[in-house]
Amino acid sequence: MKKLLLVAGARPNFMKLAPLYASLKAEPDAFQPIVVHTGQHYDRQMSDVFFEQLALPEPDINLGIGSATHGAQTGRILEKLEKVMLDSEPDMVVVFGDVNSTLAGALAAVKLGIPVAHVEAGLRSNDWSMPEEINRVVADRVSALLFTTCEDAADNLLREGATPDSIHFVGNVMIDSLVKLLPVADKLDVLRQYDLQSKRYTLVTMHRASNVDDEENLRKLTEMLSRLALFAPVMFPVHPRTMRNLKDLTSAIDRDSILDHPNIRLSEPLGYLEFLKLEKEAALVVTDSGGVQEESTYLQVPCLTARPNTERPVTITDGTNTLVGLDPLRIAELAEQYLFGGSPQRKRPRLWDGNAAPRIVSVMQRFFEITSVPAPGVTEDDCVEQELR
Ligand code: UD1
Ligand code: UDP
Repeated sequence: MKKLLLVAGARPNFMKLAPLYASLKAEPDAFQPIVVHTGQHYDRQMSDVFFEQLALPEPDINLGIGSATHGAQTGRILEKLEKVMLDSEPDMVVVFGDVNSTLAGALAAVKLGIPVAHVEAGLRSNDWSMPEEINRVVADRVSALLFTTCEDAADNLLREGATPDSIHFVGNVMIDSLVKLLPVADKLDVLRQYDLQSKRYTLVTMHRASNVDDEENLRKLTEMLSRLALFAPVMFPVHPRTMRNLKDLTSAIDRDSILDHPNIRLSEPLGYLEFLKLEKEAALVVTDSGGVQEESTYLQVPCLTARPNTERPVTITDGTNTLVGLDPLRIAELAEQYLFGGSPQRKRPRLWDGNAAPRIVSVMQRFFEITSVPAPGVTEDDCVEQELR
């Protein structure tokens, strides 16, 4: 039996962890998954609500780290995780995505000689001003197993010197959660709660430090919201980082223009199910989130990404995503087109089919030389080591 420490800490980790946890639990003779929550996110609406809705048990260990500067937060997680790893002696540590908890988990493990598996490896924005890009590159560099969501990720990894046999294209484990829980989300009455009508509103999320920590960009965000609200109601569940900064905005005119706007529905961060339902029913999504770019592609809802780049180009080439930067006029122009002119249906990226987690488990079984029947949808082409092209 192999002991796997699954390290998660921030909102976008939980919907990636849940399907893998369930698939590992389905192999009790082979794997013992242990969930460590770093406590990077700690508000109920940024953490507990996901454990409940994703049917995850309470974390086995919660490090209770909380918020801090990058160095302090990463360092504190690293120190506490090292102790956990020394005490529990896992056979492998699994990290997810690109947050500070991902980096700390990968570093703590590799320094102890424990193999690391990175779920969502190989995504690159090539923008080193993004803290997430640093986290991705370092986590990938020290990982023994690199699980990728899309085909371009392997090229990025190979270019950086990863060995072909460490890279496994398994699909998008976050989409596993979506596929499983969309039927549950669909039954919620959340549109009525916010006085919204199906396909007649814009859903906005915005939390990237580069967009919301800078006063000038925050002002652009308020202008963008006011412009969007001229076309249709805007639903804006607000990340705590963004809410704190909005409340601190020095210009009362900018602040009140959105905090008290009749056509802008602000809410606290929403539960996963409520958010999925609102995402599926939206006419348009405007976001700077990584995960929301992918989910809107899967749901075939047009998405405008308020960033200069994306580490998820498949959402543009195959999906419904358009990069626009934080430019209120350009966003309003495109929003008008999508809201009133419709948009072409795009295709779902390959292996975004709800079966990524079983594929990961199949690869882990081979890594540990535990034989098993192939996971659903696994073909020789999919889960085998990617050839150097
Ligand atoms: C983090 C990730 C980011 C991810 C985002 C998802 C890093 C470097 N960033 O950004 O990649 O897209 O999570 O949501 O890991 N706060 C609360 N309550 C909470 C959590 C945070 O009030 O439960 C507030 C605190 O004021 C905190 C701020 O939000 O200082 C930022 O939190 P932090 O985890 O540092 O970064 P995020 O912006 O959430
Ligand atoms: N999400 C949520 N409630 C919200 C906003 C987002 O449940 O109010 C979910 C969303 O469905 C997706 C994930 O959070 O699964 C994306 O996380 P986030 O945008 O915080 O981080 P990123 O993906 O940018 O790292």
